Amino acid sequence: MNIVVLGPGAIGSLWAHSLHCAGHSVSLWSRSDGHTHTIQVDDGRAIVLANHDTPALEQADLLLVTVKAPQVTQAIQPLLKHLHSECIVLLMHNGMGTAEPTSKILTGNPLVLATTTHGVYRQSDSLILHTGLGTTQLGGYNAKGKQCQFLEDVLHHALPNVSWNPNIQEALWHKLAINCAINPMTAIHQITNGELNSNNYSKELDRVINEVSQVMNAEGITTSLATLKETVYKVINATAKNHSSMQQDIFYHRTSEIDFITGYLLERAKAHNIAAPSNAALYEQIKRIEQSWKSS
Ligand SMILES: NC(=O)c1ccc[n+]([C@@H]2O[C@H](COP(=O)([O-])OP(=O)(O)OC[C@H]3O[C@@H](n4cnc5c(N)ncnc54)[C@H](OP(=O)(O)O)[C@@H]3O)[C@@H](O)[C@H]2O)c1
Repeated sequence: MNIVVLGPGAIGSLWAHSLHCAGHSVSLWSRSDGHTHTIQVDDGRAIVLANHDTPALEQADLLLVTVKAPQVTQAIQPLLKHLHSECIVLLMHNGMGTAEPTSKILTGNPLVLATTTHGVYRQSDSLILHTGLGTTQLGGYNAKGKQCQFLEDVLHHALPNVSWNPNIQEALWHKLAINCAINPMTAIHQITNGELNSNNYSKELDRVINEVSQVMNAEGITTSLATLKETVYKVINATAKNHSSMQQDIFYHRTSEIDFITGYLLERAKAHNIAAPSNAALYEQIKRIEQSWKSS
């Protein structure tokens, strides 16, 4: 396939590298406008891919969007005039709430959503470390996107395991629940995921998960408080030494994905008239921290 990866950071570089090695014609669209970009994964062979190659964009069968949630629509916007209407647009990021605005700016393109649990650390512009093998789920957002199940094989061949989920919203909600529980608290307290196991945080964590499970049920996602708690603590233990992406964003004074994680949850809670004070408090705290950089 002709593939353009928009936003070759940690996750985008991993996919660009894997898809290139699987034999696809891959080019990049990064924020900087250099004509080429080098990617090395761990101590493997470095590859050089074209960057900002407009003819490649015009011929793209797949636009893989791996910018963070707050950048999705603004990153896609300038590319629209070059995309043909059958080019599949695949959004792969944490958080929810970007699919609807993206579908509005596209001109009938198939839209597919994905969530991945791979762990990738960007050591430098060209070197990424694949720190955790994960799995990826994808599924269609609009009618044309729902016909793109063949992507499962394409992506699985490049970077297994990949599965097609006809109910991708459910998978995204489960990832959102984990992110709502782990990300804001680790960011506010600047702690590792594993430190959430301390008694100091257990009551707050329980309240957060309880609110998330109520909203999920109202959204028609089948889950129970007990199942959700078990999943969250499993992730906390499996990633005990890791720093969450929001912890890193706050540490480095980068705008976090809070609006698309807890912010999205609060939006849906409001729509269902569900009180979510614990999540609201975490949201406000992250916003206050981000605001403090602007005023200092
Ligand atoms: N890393 C992981 O292990 C991991 C795992 C699962 C899910 N995720 C999720 O995957 C998403 C991407 O994360 P990441 O870790 O790969 O972040 P990242 O390393 O910051 O990558 C994002 C990339 O998008 C680029 N970008 C931003 N705006 C752009 C624009 N307008 N045009 C072109 N490129 C643009 C950034 O460029 P600059 O460098 O110039 O800002 C950066 O290279 C996030 O939602 C994250 O939560 C990450």
